[in-house]
Order: sequence, then structure tokens, then C-alpha cells
Amino acid sequence: MNQKSYKIAVLPGDGIGPEVIVEAKKVLEAVGTKFSIGFEFDEQLVGGAAIDAVGEALPAATLAVCENSDAILFGSVGGEKWNSLPPEKRPEVGALLPLRKHFDLFANIRPAGVLSMLKNSSPLKPEIIGDGFSFTVIRELTGDVYFGAKERGEDFASDLMIYRKDEVVRIARVAFELAKNSRQKVTNIDKANVLATSQFWRKIVEEVHAQEFPEIELEHLYIDNATMQILVKPQRFDIVLAGNLFGDILSDEAAQISGSIGLQASASINSKKFGLFEPMGGSAPDIAGQGIANPIAQIGSAAMMLDISFGELAAVKAIKQAILATLESGLRTGDIFTGALGEQKVSTKEMGDAIAAAILEN
Ligand code: NAD
Ligand code: IPM
Ligand code: MN
Repeated sequence: MNQKSYKIAVLPGDGIGPEVIVEAKKVLEAVGTKFSIGFEFDEQLVGGAAIDAVGEALPAATLAVCENSDAILFGSVGGEKWNSLPPEKRPEVGALLPLRKHFDLFANIRPAGVLSMLKNSSPLKPEIIGDGFSFTVIRELTGDVYFGAKERGEDFASDLMIYRKDEVVRIARVAFELAKNSRQKVTNIDKANVLATSQFWRKIVEEVHAQEFPEIELEHLYIDNATMQILVKPQRFDIVLAGNLFGDILSDEAAQISGSIGLQASASINSKKFGLFEPMGGSAPDIAGQGIANPIAQIGSAAMMLDISFGELAAVKAIKQAILATLESGLRTGDIFTGALGEQKVSTKEMGDAIAAAILEN
């Protein structure tokens, strides 16, 4: 029998990126061994690391490898060192945004939720967490002010906030489709009391809903109220639909109330389910180089890759169970360590080793 094999473009990037991506590869190797799946990793420069090595954030060689791969596993990019460069040359705008645009990765899927053993790590009060919560932010990723025309003069600057109909229709469909397999509810988040783009966005979401998904419950919240409601009653949310900018902000809030941004994975996919799989958080310059970052967000992103792009569901289940078992045994990186009885503070590597071992043991 031929072993299945996948080509993965691995882009570690900057800050904690290289530290956590090692652990994700380790975990992929473990499920590869267990389920006879081959992974061919092709590691390439991106972001600040690429600027330092070859003078540009997204070298042609990196893009070529991504084009010839089955998926992209992305660490994180950016840091103080490159902030004085012109915006379009910086790691974020020079590498990550062009990658998203190049592969038309319009759907950013960012699940959030608190695990029972991590309730203490969430800043929410126990009475608000209750029996827990889980919701998924569906963030549009290739439009909005991120990609609208930019202008900068001596005494003014502007970023155009713009959405086209087809961009709203396709992301709305992703949200409603996911709601079908979830709790049948979409909360659309915008600023339709002020912004023309939001009024337009909301009208199209309502049309897609009425024409294609009338059985799904649809509610609307303004972004300012939504940031508050997420802290008051997170159980109210199932599928959260938002544009690029509002979705970016909401997803960090969702990550933190889930315990830590270091736990939160994300998938950025196109209509063919090709994707770039990246943690929700960034290069974490405050803890980079110390070996203490939480690798679970990166490991979870690799699991989303196996799930969404490859349909390797047994491997996904094994990774999820191994993460749960490892957390259940008390292992905690600094970001989720509370000092409670039974917790043991561990390094990035110790956490990755334990998750890989749990996969192979079970
Ligand atoms: P950040 O997400 O890097 O860090 C915010 C906080 O979260 C920090 O306290 C950090 O230590 C913590 N954190 C993040 N990931 C963690 C992990 N795995 N384990 C433990 N703690 C973790 O946000 P920032 O400080 O605003 O941004 C730093 C740089 O990263 C900037 O240059 C920013 O543009 C970039 N960034 C990149 C990406 C990406 O590449 N996908 C995403 C967000 C931010
Ligand atoms: C994210 C990040 C990026 C974004 C930055 C680094 C461009 O914050 O993936 O959430 O704003 O999309
Ligand atoms: Mn962000």
C-alpha cells in the first residue's frame, strides 16, 4: 500500500515562530508514525528573518515552495527590529498579507472556547464561564481596510474601507455553512449604525441568509457592543461573522477569554480548501528566545491543516486527545500557569514532547 504523503511549506518567521513550529512538526511526525502519513517539510524564509537574510519579506523562492505545496504551516512575523522600514516592506504587510492575497485565503476560521481544566486561566469570572463556552470567529481576510487604497501625505493619511458584493457573499456562506453543523446560529458583527461598508455588508448577509439559509438563526450586533457581550455572556455566540478589521480585534479577545492566545489556532483558507495555518497570536517579542512560549496554538493550527485541507480525521482526533491529556496531567506553559495544585510549569519543548509522546502512547 502506498503511504499517503503531504508536502508542507513550513514558514517559521520571527520571534517565537521558530520555537513553536519545531513542536508542531514534532507532533505531525508523531501522527505520521501512528497513522502512516508522510510529511515532506520544506522550510523557507519569511518575514523579518527573510529581510535579514535576503533583503525582502516574501522571497520568490518562498512563494514558489508555497505554490508547490499541499498546505502552508506558518509561524509568525514581525518585531521592533523591522518597524522602521516603510510599511509595505515590513514583515506583516510585506509577507503575511501578500501570502493571504496571493492564495485568495478569504476565510479565516478562528475557534475559541475554554477547556474545563483551563477555566482558571481565563480572566472571566467562574459565574460567567459557567459550564463553559465555545464559538468560532469567521473573519473575512482579503478585503476591508487591510487591502483598500492607502494614501499618506505630510498632514494626512487614509486607508480605504471597501467591500465588494462577491467578497461578502462568499464569507457569509462559509459562516452559514458552519452554523449548519454547529448550533444553527450566526451573529453578524459590524458597525452599520455609522459605516456605509457595514450597511452594505449587513444587507448582503441578510440576502444570503434569506435566500440560502433561512433555517439558521441570524442576529446582528454592533462591534462595540459585541466586544462587551463576549465578556458578559460568551455562551450567546456560536458562529461569529465579521469583516477583516473587526474580526482581527474580536479574535484576540476571544483568544484571551479562552485562557491564552498561546492556545488559539487558526486556518486561513480559499475556496479549494488550500490554506495557510497560523496561530492567532504574533511573534510575542516579550517572550521570544526564552523557550517558554505555548506551542499549542501552533500544534492546533497543524491539526486544522490535517482536518480542513487533508481530511485526516483520525490524526486530528489523536492530536486533540493528546493536548487534552497533557493539560489534564497538569503541564502548563507560563501563559496558562496559575500556580494551582497539580500544575507543573514547563517549557515550549517539554509541552511539545509531552503532546507527541501522548500521541504515540495511545
Ligand atoms: P502578540 O500576539 O505577538 O503578543 C501579545 C501577547 O500575547 C504577548 O504578551 C505575548 O507574549 C503573548 N503571546 C502570544 N503568543 C503566545 C504564545 N504562543 N505563548 C505565550 N504567550 C503568547 O502581539 P503583539 O505583541 O501585538 O505583536 C508582536 C508582533 O507580532 C508584531 O510585529 C505584530 O505585527 C506581529 N503579529 C504577527 C502575527 C502573525 O504573524 N500571524 C499575528 C499577530 C501579530
Ligand atoms: C493576525 C495578525 C495580522 C492581522 C497582522 C500581523 C497583519 O494580527 O493574523 O491576526 O492583522 O491579520
Ligand atoms: Mn491579529
